[in-house]
Amino acid sequence: MASEIVVEGGVPLRGSVGVVGAKNAVLQQIISTLLCAGWHRLSNVPDIADVRALTMVLEHLGVKCELAGRELAMVVPEQISVEAPLELVRTMRASILLLGPLLTRFGEAQIPMPGGDDLGARPVDMHLNGLRQMGAELELVHGVLVGKAPKGLIGREMELPFPSVGATQNLMMAAVMARGDSAIVNAAREPEIVDLGNQLKKMGARLSGVGSPIIRIKGTRKLRPAAHRVLPDRIAAGTYAMAGAVTGGEVTITGCEPSHLRMELAKLEAAGCEVERGEGWLHVSGSSRPRAVDFATLPYPGFHTDLHPQMVAVLSVAEGTSVVTENLYDGRFRYVGELARMGADIYTEWQHAVVRGVDRLSGCPVVATDIRAGAALVIAGLAAYGVTTVAGVEHIDRGYADLVADMTGLGASMERRDSDRGGLRLFGW
Ligand code: EPU
Repeated sequence: MASEIVVEGGVPLRGSVGVVGAKNAVLQQIISTLLCAGWHRLSNVPDIADVRALTMVLEHLGVKCELAGRELAMVVPEQISVEAPLELVRTMRASILLLGPLLTRFGEAQIPMPGGDDLGARPVDMHLNGLRQMGAELELVHGVLVGKAPKGLIGREMELPFPSVGATQNLMMAAVMARGDSAIVNAAREPEIVDLGNQLKKMGARLSGVGSPIIRIKGTRKLRPAAHRVLPDRIAAGTYAMAGAVTGGEVTITGCEPSHLRMELAKLEAAGCEVERGEGWLHVSGSSRPRAVDFATLPYPGFHTDLHPQMVAVLSVAEGTSVVTENLYDGRFRYVGELARMGADIYTEWQHAVVRGVDRLSGCPVVATDIRAGAALVIAGLAAYGVTTVAGVEHIDRGYADLVADMTGLGASMERRDSDRGGLRLFGW
């Protein structure tokens, strides 16, 4: 369904908005249930397109999934299929994470190779190298990764050349049921890694050092199903904080974990916002105009790449010139051309952008190329004069359950237009 978000800018956002569980934690936690048979439960689950798509993949494998409100119940049988369906997984990079759990539990897996996406090439070599070190045989056959480990996986020390979030998660899930001890050196330290570790520990896995650069794992065959609450979505919280900042508004964000956003909030403060934090909440007051601030994206605890486009939307109307460095994705700057259409003055060279703040953006039709680009264009629309129409909303739906409802709850003039409904679904006007 082709949808658009229509934003009328110039309204300072005010009020309170809640966040639910993180996309980048729940997808992995849905996949980790494949490690053992039984009834698994996840709570605080966001009702987003990626969760729905992934539960369809699991259903295809033979798992019963039921999403009711924010509770997801999954019944994993003793035997499931180990072949993931191409049409469901080709656009979802998280599907590569099926390899570790399926190989370690069943000794075989067939996963269509996830392609490049809107953020660039996104290779999976670290996933494959780690699994090969643990004894898996992996072959690419007609676009499908065919994995075999007839004698099971063997615990190993694996050193990652870069602290990849996905590779760390895949190898954690593979190692918890491998024979012997494993270590993941130069592991990613993101809160979502810690949350996966917590879920796996509840299932009986033996891990230590999760959240540090060295994760140690003692393999065990005896895992059990568990109930787990997904940690709050720090990217959604940061998106609302930046929307409040760009409009000179005052926004309270509840259900979040401010300590997971240290660097991003410090940069908002440097840009002139006042930020108050407490247990599970965050209050951001924007100034009449943001100030320029430089930032570089880095693995946690650095500035998160998934908040880069939203922050650039804020800086595009700041007083002064900001320098932004992107260290994770070669395709992350694809949204810049759309912001330029709105009047932003941004010059990119390789992984750097020079953002010269303009007095005002002007609304116009733009297209989102990925989830966070979409959020950034909505934020830019809030700051612009006139009407901005954001197409490519299917990207936004992958990561935000209802961005329009959340923004209109804060007073934004915004609506969603679903083309197959032949009319408008009104929220704020
Ligand atoms: N990389 C490799 N080889 C690998 C794995 C990664 O070269 O084998 C590179 C990637 O190409 C990228 C960098 O390493 O340049 C970081 O990738 P990483 O593996 O850390 O990311 P990911 O696990 O693929 C998750 C999130 C992303 C988020 C990144 C970084 C999920 C489902 N996705 O991806 O989320 O940007 O971590 O924090 O958890 C989003 O939500 O919009 C999103 C893209």
